Amino acid sequence: MKKKHVLIMGGGMIGLSAAFSLLKRGLDVTILEKSICGGQATGAAAGMLAPFSEISEDPDPFFTFCLESLRRFPEWQKEVKRESGMDFEYTESGSLHAVYHESDLLGLESRIGWQKRFGSEAEIVEGDRLQQLEPLLSDEVIAAIYSPDEAHVYAPECAQALEEACRKMGAVIEDRLESVTIRSWLNEPVLEAADGRRFSGDHLVVASGAWSGQLEDTFGLRIPVFPIRGQICAYDREGADVRHIISSSQGYLVPKANGTLVNGASEDISGFDTGVTEKGIARLVNWNYRMLPFLKERQPFHTWAGLRPATQDGFPLLGRLADAPHVIFATGHYRNGILLSPATGEAVADLIDGAGLEDHFRNAFFPERFS
Ligand code: FAD
Ligand code: GLY
Repeated sequence: MKKKHVLIMGGGMIGLSAAFSLLKRGLDVTILEKSICGGQATGAAAGMLAPFSEISEDPDPFFTFCLESLRRFPEWQKEVKRESGMDFEYTESGSLHAVYHESDLLGLESRIGWQKRFGSEAEIVEGDRLQQLEPLLSDEVIAAIYSPDEAHVYAPECAQALEEACRKMGAVIEDRLESVTIRSWLNEPVLEAADGRRFSGDHLVVASGAWSGQLEDTFGLRIPVFPIRGQICAYDREGADVRHIISSSQGYLVPKANGTLVNGASEDISGFDTGVTEKGIARLVNWNYRMLPFLKERQPFHTWAGLRPATQDGFPLLGRLADAPHVIFATGHYRNGILLSPATGEAVADLIDGAGLEDHFRNAFFPERFS
């Protein structure tokens, strides 16, 4: 029987992880990337795998999807390393989510209450125990949730390894295409690059991140995916022993194995502009020493920004189109696309294999829900 051929539009973490899962199942894959793989939101990300720290409200399908992906990550990252022959940082650092006021303690307790129902080993830490865990933490911090099961990856290198793994497993990767236009999709998908080359396949996976909203006219659907810029910076942390992901309601700090400390991130609206602004970086710099006082004496050596694919309801668009089930959407992962890669890749492969998503994910994520 002829192997199914899948076209993937977009070579960020989501397109690459979909490709990886499909290749493992023996399908043919072509990735069509208008620029370079991992060059957009993916390459800008802090790489936190931290659903407990990032999702503070009651658990919803987005949280449970994140949690499923976190559980898959240890094995998945080993597979990526094995298939690519490349290494990248994956550190099970644990995290501290810090608060400054007595009035915030109640919030921590209710947060930890529901997290424990989902298997979290988290605990509230204060005083000496907190100082032992993170000796350089500011004494303004009165307590923190310690989540030992959160981790982080070095996202740009993880994406490079994933790209290499896909290549070695037989994917065709067409990058620097400048533009890719969908010429037909109702029956056999046909995509056209700026140089006029056409690509056809049995299935199309839309994984074009913050640009996905530009496909509304093509599909005749409302696709409320829009770019939210994240401005972010990095410090040299030489001589400073920082051990965990540290976050508060104001932002986060992630100590990387290469000796840097990544400090993010703004959430601002700038269209498709990936520049940084003085104000955006100043907001990080004017806050972060309240977490780690030694930062008051240092300046970031690198600043950058990326465009998160946000959606109107905060959930990704993940699923088949009802009238064209060979078209799969996998976009709108907003702040958690790195974390969500393993679970999204498997979900796309399941959808193409004919298995659906579990009901609670299908009902929350189906791509036509805004139309
Ligand atoms: P992208 O990585 O943006 O990839 C989309 C790709 O599609 C791009 O390469 C683009 O060129 C291509 N494309 C667009 N249109 C077309 C077209 N017509 N044809 C062909 N190709 C096209 N997530 C986490 O899990 N943890 C974090 O700590 C984290 N930190 C972040 C920090 C910052 C500052 C930012 C900006 C994001 C962060 N994120 C984090 C979010 C994460 O980066 C995104 O959710 C994830 O990268 C989205 O992946 P993607 O593949 O959908 O999008
Ligand atoms: N998940 C971190 C960010 O999006 O900034």
